[in-house]
Amino acid sequence: MNITKASKKHFKSAARLHAASITTGFLSTLPLPFLATLYKSIARCKGSTVLVALDENNNVCGFVAGAVSVGSMYKKVFLRSAIPLIWYILPHLLSITTVRKLIETAWYGFAKKKSKNEQADNTNSGPSLVTSHSSPSSELLSIAVDSSQRGKGTGKKLITELELFFRQNGVSSYKVVTFSKDNISNTFYARCGFTLHKQFLHHGNLMNEYLKKIDVLVAEGDRC
Ligand SMILES: CC(C)(COP(=O)(O)OP(=O)(O)OC[C@H]1O[C@@H](n2cnc3c(N)ncnc32)[C@H](O)[C@@H]1OP(=O)(O)O)[C@@H](O)C(=O)NCCC(=O)NCCS
Repeated sequence: MNITKASKKHFKSAARLHAASITTGFLSTLPLPFLATLYKSIARCKGSTVLVALDENNNVCGFVAGAVSVGSMYKKVFLRSAIPLIWYILPHLLSITTVRKLIETAWYGFAKKKSKNEQADNTNSGPSLVTSHSSPSSELLSIAVDSSQRGKGTGKKLITELELFFRQNGVSSYKVVTFSKDNISNTFYARCGFTLHKQFLHHGNLMNEYLKKIDVLVAEGDRC
C-alpha cells in the first residue's frame, strides 16, 4: 500500500469513497461531481492537501484531507471553483434546509477565534460544551478507508502522512471533529493519539472536537 498526493485521476474515487464511507455528514448528501471538484480544489490550494492510499492495483483504497487554515482554504476553494461547485448543486439550492446547511458549513470555516473567557473556561481538565468554534485553525477535514481494507493500519498511515504535511507547514497542533455518537471514529482518533478537547452543537448534533500536538519540522538552516 502506497500513500501519495492525490492527482487528477484520484478525485472521483476519493469522492465515491467519501459518499460511501462518511454517511453521517451533510457533504455526502451532495452529488459526486461536487465532492470530486471540492477535493480537487482542496488539493490544489496552497496550505491544504488530499492524500490517497493506493492498493496493489493502484486503486484508491483510502484518503485523507487536511488544511493548515480552514478559513483560508474555504476562501481559496470558493474563489477557484465557485462556478462548478454551484453548478453541481443547483437543484439542491431549491431546498431551504440544504442552503442553510451550506451556509453553516461555510461559516464553520470562518468562525471567529475563541474569546478570552472561553479560553479560560477550557483550562479545566476534560472537555467543555461550548457553542462556538475555537483554534487551532489547522484541521483534518475528512478521512476514509475502503470497507474491505479497514483494520490494517491504513487509516493510521494516512494520519502519519498528513502530519508530515502539517509539520512541513509549521503546524504544531491540529484538530478533527466527529459526531459524538460515532464510536468508531472516536475510538480511531483516540488510538491515533488525539485527546478530546470540547463538545459543541452543529446542525443540531453533538460534536466532539479532538486535538493533537505534533512537532514542527525544523529546516536545517534554522537549527542552532
Ligand atoms: C475510521 C477509519 C478511517 C479507520 O481506518 P482503518 O484503516 O480501519 O484504521 P487503522 O486500521 O489504521 O486503525 C488505527 C487504530 O484505530 C483502531 N480502530 C480502527 N477501527 C476501529 C473500529 N472499528 N473499532 C475499534 N477500533 C478501531 C484500531 O484498532 C487501531 O488501533 P491500534 O493502532 O492501537 O491497534 C475507517 O474505519 C473508515 O473509513 N470509517 C468510515 C469513515 C469515517 O468514519 N471517517 C472518520 C470521520 S471523517
